[in-house]
Amino acid sequence: MPKINLKKLKIEAKKGIKKARDLKSLNEVFNRYLGKRQGELVRILRSLEKLPKRKRAKIGEEANKLKDFIKQKIEVKAEKMRLIEASPEKTEWLDVTIPGKKPLLGHLHPLTQVKRKTEEIFENMGFSVVEGPEIETEWYNFDALNIPKDHPARDVWDTFWLKNNRVKLLLRTHTSPVQVRYMEKNNPPLRIIVPGRVFRREATDASHEINFYHLEGLMIDKDISAANFKAIIQDFYREFFGKPLKIRFIPSFFPFVEPGFQVDISCLNCQGRGCSACQQSGWLEMMGAGMVHPNVLKNSGLNPKFWQGFAFGMGIERLVMMKYKINDIRLFYGGDLRFLKQF
Ligand code: FA5
Repeated sequence: MPKINLKKLKIEAKKGIKKARDLKSLNEVFNRYLGKRQGELVRILRSLEKLPKRKRAKIGEEANKLKDFIKQKIEVKAEKMRLIEASPEKTEWLDVTIPGKKPLLGHLHPLTQVKRKTEEIFENMGFSVVEGPEIETEWYNFDALNIPKDHPARDVWDTFWLKNNRVKLLLRTHTSPVQVRYMEKNNPPLRIIVPGRVFRREATDASHEINFYHLEGLMIDKDISAANFKAIIQDFYREFFGKPLKIRFIPSFFPFVEPGFQVDISCLNCQGRGCSACQQSGWLEMMGAGMVHPNVLKNSGLNPKFWQGFAFGMGIERLVMMKYKINDIRLFYGGDLRFLKQF
């Protein structure tokens, strides 16, 4: 039987425990001395029966003590290690030399970018930006704007009505109701723009959505004329497209203006020569406009004998489509990042 040297074993075990740097190596020390199959102390204890009785009792007692000693030392160290492993310094440790993960940066939707640019241009011309409700009453969306019930003009703005309301409510078809809301509460001179979402019940195609954005404009004072409107809108397009554009007014009908006109710009695609975007006409329809109808002024609490002015309403999507030569309005709402990342 090999010589049993418990003192040497104790020194070695202590060294091993001290050297262990993590739970794995500590576990290896445990197995080396106390492991059920190969552990040195376990082996010694098993071999005691071969010794004479007196010696057996003495060495047995010493070996058991050493076993408890090693076990306790390992447990204490393991507990310390576990605490260190779970400590914030360990788990939240930061290696500043590791190359960083690039965060995915988003950006504003092209419609928002253009809406903001438009606001900036008009603000520089002295206009204030005003908002109104997307759920509108029948009065503000139609009646106050000189569009009585059963008037065929209502059909142009077929919309979504809300059920079960004492007052008839709908999703607004244009931002023109905000003209009335604003004039009711503010005294002229007035100069506002109203960007906002509008809704129409219609079939979608490359240039029509059921949900799109309008930018309304309103200027009221004592002697505002269509010439003022022309100058302002010409300035706006020059700023927006970065170059002077040819524009033209052609007569059009909107019940809330008199006279009313449609504003066209010379097609940017073909420089007015004629292409598919402008249906060979060389012109693109950009907005409706006109001099505010006396009935609308009256419905807003203003006396048309003293006050007059112009209003206009353009589609923001069509503006963006012109600027970036986008051929389908539905791309704005499709959520396709390949499209959106280009702006
Ligand atoms: C109006 O909505 C009037 N409120 C505009 C106005 C304001 C006229 C003030 C006079 C005075 P219209 O329905 O034409 O007008 O719409 C205005 C613009 O919105 C159009 O010129 C077009 O650019 C855009 N637009 C109209 N329908 C759609 C649609 N379904 N999808 C996307 N853009 C549209």
